[in-house]
Amino acid sequence: MSRLELAALAGLIVALLALVAYVISMAREEGAAGAYNSPTGEVVHLPLPRKITEMSVEEAVLHRRSIREFTADPLKLEHLSMILWSAFGITEPRRELRASPSAGATYPLEVYVVVGERGVEVKGGAYLEAGVYKYDPFTHSIKFVKKGDFRRDLASAALGQEWVEEAPVSIVICAVFERTTRVYGRRGEVRYVPMEVGHAGQSIYLMSTALGYGTVAVGAFYDEQVARVISAARDEVPLYIMPVGVPRRPYRGSFEEVGRYLEANRRG
Ligand SMILES: Cc1cc2nc3c(=O)[nH]c(=O)nc-3n(C[C@H](O)[C@H](O)[C@H](O)COP(=O)(O)O)c2cc1C
Repeated sequence: MSRLELAALAGLIVALLALVAYVISMAREEGAAGAYNSPTGEVVHLPLPRKITEMSVEEAVLHRRSIREFTADPLKLEHLSMILWSAFGITEPRRELRASPSAGATYPLEVYVVVGERGVEVKGGAYLEAGVYKYDPFTHSIKFVKKGDFRRDLASAALGQEWVEEAPVSIVICAVFERTTRVYGRRGEVRYVPMEVGHAGQSIYLMSTALGYGTVAVGAFYDEQVARVISAARDEVPLYIMPVGVPRRPYRGSFEEVGRYLEANRRG
């Protein structure tokens, strides 16, 4: 074989190897997307938790209502930070205990945030990139899972509930049941994990209310479809979708009205 032929053969082999490497990398990417969890790895550190509202707990309870109509206004990043922290954040660093109680501190909940186009305002009029993010309580940050505005897909997985599409942000609470059932067996599955989602959900309601937002606990959806939209890991089961946004008509309760109602009932 001449030198020229050898060089041509070597070139051909290199080109073939490059093609094989490309095909393998494409297959990997597709496989990862199908198998869920193909994060780009970008991390957004959320503003640190702090005292931020003037509303008392009793006022937040009084004014809490399920809200299903939202304006086009975004959430402020600082507020998203407080809503996530109040439900899932670390409150006792020494023992890594968190804002919501957990059976045996097994912490089965994993949290995704579906951010719409211009859904979260960062300081200076910039916006967080639309996409699906995952919350990390240990660094109080959200990590990019995938880019794009997935609100319509999420709403369609939730039987077309428009408020899921309309809200600038939806928090999707999933559970890894195994973390709790490993310790408590079936009781963990039918009682403890669902109870824990309720605790977290109520904190999201109350913190959202105190910050001037509204939310609604959405439990009606196709589990598999929601898991696909957020690219959940295989062992993460979605339990609640909580769309959060500025209410079109904020609800305001009244202690006087509640008092009158209770006194009338006492009179019989
Ligand atoms: C487990 C659970 C599932 C729910 N699922 C939905 C839902 O899929 N869609 C919805 O619009 N509201 C849903 N809700 C909200 C209830 O409809 C709401 O809490 C109820 O009407 C009482 O109103 P309030 O929350 O304003 O007090 C759900 C609430 C709970 C606790």
